[in-house]
Amino acid sequence: MEIYDVLHAEHRQLLENLEELVDAEGAHRRQLLEMVADEMSAHGAAEDQVLYDRLATNAHMHALILEAKQEHHVVGLLLTELLALDVDDERFAGKVKILRELIDAHIEGEEEDMFEEARRLTGLAAESLAGEYLNAREHVAELTPLARLAAVDRKNEQKQPAVRPADEARL
Ligand SMILES: [Fe+2]
Ligand SMILES: [Fe+2]
Repeated sequence: MEIYDVLHAEHRQLLENLEELVDAEGAHRRQLLEMVADEMSAHGAAEDQVLYDRLATNAHMHALILEAKQEHHVVGLLLTELLALDVDDERFAGKVKILRELIDAHIEGEEEDMFEEARRLTGLAAESLAGEYLNAREHVAELTPLARLAAVDRKNEQKQPAVRPADEARL
């Protein structure tokens, strides 16, 4: 199994729960929001650490990865606001719709561009990365969603990965 298969399966689950969250109300709304925040923050933190930071060292991928990291960041801001909001607040539905649009577009970008490009460009060991990804996911499971989001933001504010030449085969 490749890391892309694991990510793809998690994307489907996330999109399904997001879809349900858009129409949910009351306690069910809160429950679904917590699930989405948990899934998205764990997925994003492990994906950032195991895949993005590697791909960012390749000049072909660098700009695309910085953009994807920014999308994770903005999704995190919306999730943070939603978690602090009363489920009956009139702003809730609008924020959830924008969250779904952002995540939809982000996942499409990963599955249709980034993953293909990563496969084509690199000698990335996609199978061993699946194991590394699952370990990272287990590691962040100890943290709350908000703590995961904050940890990724802190790391990305400090760290500027060195960029290798565009024709560098291995990451
Ligand atoms: Fe993803
Ligand atoms: Fe992502």
